[in-house]
Amino acid sequence: MTQNANLQEWDAIRPLSHREFEEFRSLAHRTFGLDLKAGKEELVSARLRKLVRGSGLRSFQEYYRQVVEDSTGRTLASMIDALTTNHTSFLREPDHFDFLRQRLSSEFANSERLEIWSAACSTGEEVWTLACLLNDCLGPNRGRILATDISNRVLKAASEGCYGADRCAGIPAAWLSRYFMAEGRPARSYRIAPAIRAQVQFQRVNLVERISLARQFPVIFCRNVMIYFDRRFTGSRPVRSTGGPNRRRNGGLPGGRRLRTGPDDVRARLLHRTGPV
Ligand SMILES: C[S@@+](CC[C@H](N)C(=O)[O-])C[C@H]1O[C@@H](n2cnc3c(N)ncnc32)[C@H](O)[C@@H]1O
Repeated sequence: MTQNANLQEWDAIRPLSHREFEEFRSLAHRTFGLDLKAGKEELVSARLRKLVRGSGLRSFQEYYRQVVEDSTGRTLASMIDALTTNHTSFLREPDHFDFLRQRLSSEFANSERLEIWSAACSTGEEVWTLACLLNDCLGPNRGRILATDISNRVLKAASEGCYGADRCAGIPAAWLSRYFMAEGRPARSYRIAPAIRAQVQFQRVNLVERISLARQFPVIFCRNVMIYFDRRFTGSRPVRSTGGPNRRRNGGLPGGRRLRTGPDDVRARLLHRTGPV
């Protein structure tokens, strides 16, 4: 198809109207807690337009109907994939990891096994940072991580655990040689080593739904996700603390916010708050 024909097809989709924006906004809020503020019309339009075209549809209205009528949930899942923001990096916000390193070498040093939940793991950089840290501080195979996110697309990338060399620039050289395998010479990408990969389980979890996880997690990383939720979700019941010797009042989670997602059957011992709630 010529460039002109492509442009014509693009133009054939009518611009997102205010009413359509409000419909998507309300759907995103109901289904995954995203609080799309007014003024985000252009962003929503640009991200959804590709899906409208990809489905062979002519309007946002038709696409909206397809999303709400698809009982498999697949169309909704791809809409969520398109609207979520997945920015992340290795050792992002390093003070959270410094804090954890300190705890791993003190109160968790003698734990036989430590489980961490990375509750909005995006493409996995946070997960593998945690995995390297666990192996560094506790030794091989004493840590386990549950890595969850709402987006299937990012979960797939995270579980592949392979990143272009540019994205690995911030990883310490010792970690790269111990926990990753270089691909290409010079390295074009780095893949997480199988022994580290085996310590992580991936699962799709929507944090605004009721969550029931079989295990308890002494440490939860829930960073840079609550900021997208409005008060209806963030103001609900906090994750129940199981107490224990190191329990602190007003504890919190790496990420600057107490975890208040509403799932009252998830148990966590809250350790630390790194910023204002
Ligand atoms: C900005 S990334 C944060 C990644 C990582 N925690 C970090 O701080 O680098 C936010 C992640 O939250 C996920 N997310 C958004 N809404 C969610 C929800 N309702 N339940 C679970 N994950 C959600 C997105 O898919 C995205 O991957």
